[in-house]
Amino acid sequence: MKIISDIQELRSQLRGQNRASFVPTMGNLHEGHLSLMRLARLHGDPVVASIFVNRLQFGPNEDFDTYPRTMDADIAKLEKEGVYVLFAPREKDLYPEPQEYRIKPPQQLGDILEGEFRPGFFIGVCTVVMKLFSCVQPSVSIFGKKDYQQLMIIRQMVQQFALPMEIIPAETIRAADGLALSSRNSFLSQDERAEAPQLQNALQDLRQQILDLGACNPQQLLALEKKVKDVLIARGWQPDYIAIRQQKDLLTPSDIERAPLVILAAAKLGKTRLIDNLEI
Ligand code: PAF
Repeated sequence: MKIISDIQELRSQLRGQNRASFVPTMGNLHEGHLSLMRLARLHGDPVVASIFVNRLQFGPNEDFDTYPRTMDADIAKLEKEGVYVLFAPREKDLYPEPQEYRIKPPQQLGDILEGEFRPGFFIGVCTVVMKLFSCVQPSVSIFGKKDYQQLMIIRQMVQQFALPMEIIPAETIRAADGLALSSRNSFLSQDERAEAPQLQNALQDLRQQILDLGACNPQQLLALEKKVKDVLIARGWQPDYIAIRQQKDLLTPSDIERAPLVILAAAKLGKTRLIDNLEI
C-alpha cells in the first residue's frame, strides 16, 4: 500500500485510474470501517482510503484534540484489506491556507438534528469531503448509514454539484450486544460500555411502538419520542434528540402510513456522545 500525504503525488499515483473506489475516514479504524473497504472493493478498483482528522468539523468544545489517533495500527489493517493507496494528508497539505471557501448544506437538512446540536459540523464535513473528492476523483465513494444525516447530505451535495461519481451506502456494523461500532466507543468506561447498547434497544422499542400504533398523528409521535427520552434520562443518559423522521428528507412525517420512517438519536453517556438510528 502506498501512503501519500501530498496532493500532487496522490494525483500522479492515481493518474489513469477511472474506477477508483474511495473510503474517507478519520482513522482509528474498526470493523465498521473495514466493512466499508470491503464494500469499496466490490464497487471499483483500486480502493483508496483516506485518514484525516478534520479540524473544520469539530466545534470549539468538542473532542478534536483527544480524538483517537492510531495511524500505525490503521495502516496494518488497511494493508490487510488490500487498499491500494492511503491518502493521509497533514493539515498543511489539505488546508495550506485558511480554507475560506466552504460548502454549506441547505438549512432544512444541514441545520437540523446533528446540525442543530453541532453547529458548523456539516459545513466542515462537506468542505473536507468535497476537497477529498477533488484530490482522489473516485468513481464511487462509500459512506456508512450510522451517520445517516451525513450520508444524505453528501449524496445531495454530489447530485447538486453534478460530481461524476456515485455514493454507496453501507449498513451499520454492530458489536454482538447491538452497540453500533464507533471510534468514540473507546472513550466509554466499563460501566458506560455495558449501558451503551441501551440506545439501540430504546430505538428498537420505539420502532415496535410505532408499528403497534399503525396510523397516528405527529402529536402521538412526539409523545413517543418524549417517552423514550425520559427512559434514557432515567438510566443516566443526556439525550440531544430522539427523532422520528421521514427517510426521504429527515423532516417530521406528515403522513405516517405512507412515509418510510427512520428514528435518529444522539445522546451523551457520561462525556461520550453516541449517535445511532433505525429504519422502520
Ligand atoms: O464520517 C467521518 O468519519 C467523517 O465525517 C468524514 C466523512 C471522514 C469527513 O471527515
